[in-house]
Amino acid sequence: MTTAPAPPAWRVVEPPRADSLDAPDAWTYHGVAAVERAVALADLGHDDFAPPAVDVLVSDRHQEHARRHRLVAVEDPGDGGTPRVVGHGVLMLPVRDNRHLAVARVAVLPSHRRRGIGGALADRLRRVALTEGRTTLFAEVEFATEPAAGAPDAMVPREGDGLVSADLPGMRFARRAGLGLEIVACRSVLDLPLPDGVAERFAAEAAARAGDAYRVHTWSDGVPEEWLVQYAALEQRLTEDEPNGGLDLEVERWDAERVRTEQVKLAEAGKTLLVTVAEHVATGTLVATTELIDSHDRPELTEQESTVVLPEHRGHRLGMLVKAVNLREHARLRPEARRVSTWNNETNGPMLAINVALGFRPAGGSAELQAPLDQVRPLAR
Ligand SMILES: CC(C)(COP(=O)(O)OP(=O)(O)OC[C@H]1O[C@@H](n2cnc3c(N)ncnc32)[C@H](O)[C@@H]1OP(=O)(O)O)[C@@H](O)C(=O)NCCC(=O)NCCS
Repeated sequence: MTTAPAPPAWRVVEPPRADSLDAPDAWTYHGVAAVERAVALADLGHDDFAPPAVDVLVSDRHQEHARRHRLVAVEDPGDGGTPRVVGHGVLMLPVRDNRHLAVARVAVLPSHRRRGIGGALADRLRRVALTEGRTTLFAEVEFATEPAAGAPDAMVPREGDGLVSADLPGMRFARRAGLGLEIVACRSVLDLPLPDGVAERFAAEAAARAGDAYRVHTWSDGVPEEWLVQYAALEQRLTEDEPNGGLDLEVERWDAERVRTEQVKLAEAGKTLLVTVAEHVATGTLVATTELIDSHDRPELTEQESTVVLPEHRGHRLGMLVKAVNLREHARLRPEARRVSTWNNETNGPMLAINVALGFRPAGGSAELQAPLDQVRPLAR
């Protein structure tokens, strides 16, 4: 007599939504954060960039600019208790722009890999993306170190510099699904505090080059209402100008409302924003901006976000000026911070040069992958 194969010990479900981290259904958010933390510790050796539960909650709560379709793979404890999340998948679907895109993230606990969980999650996300009429799939695989040039596993992106190991589980998985490697984005980290006087010196040198035509403003309590429209224009500009290789990306549409939403999300996630902008005095126009984000939960960590200088105002050291002034103010306001991390894609030479001059050192990165959705292959066994 043959016995039927045992059903898998896990199942994929659409999790309930909860309004707070204390709600009974908030196990999803805690579970997703625990998976991401375990994956980061195993694959990257640290959890600096793993989203805490509150980030997961806030991204589900605010879907004004991107809807989220979330799945979790769970094991049931058998006593009717809370399911244990062993893997998760999320599809991000932009709403205002890039409506052809579906951005997927799948992660599985290291202890539960190679059992088909990631494939089951990815296949369901792929079907959702198709049903939603999306045509391009994006995914990202993070890594701790680049392979050496010429190493047998080193994979070269279609555009730009940077290498990624083709043997990473995420790369094997994504390639098996038919995704191609477009660009490699690199992360860099700046250790804090900076030696005495460094931020001041860079700020002074850059200010001398920029001259009186520009003045800087630093905001530690959100972008003032009267600057929101111009600030939104700079955010949009960043998405126009950032070199993205062959990634099938449209310009993002930013307006004052979108900036407000982002600021509400940061506040709800217990984060603070420090912004320095440069104003062109003669026209009252904002021409450069940079942002640092701090989190109450991890005061030792700071994230360097969007930096942009309008093309017609480049060549006056405004990128360095706003960054150095922001770091100087940050040292005063957040003396407990120990490192700043940032992203650059490897094709963005000018921004890398500023970061290197400030003392940022390479700290891994991510492979940016894409495929036309109708060419993505199912993974389930
Ligand atoms: C990538 C990841 C989600 C895969 O999860 P998983 O549950 O192990 O995936 P599956 O068991 O469904 O694997 C599906 C197929 O992918 C390929 N694959 C996955 N991991 C692999 C590995 N370590 N080595 C070789 N192939 C691998 C295989 O072809 C596998 O099929 P097979 O086991 O029948 O050979 C998991 O390794 C992970 O969480 N990595 C970190 C996060 C990440 O990089 N995510 C991918 C980008 S969204």
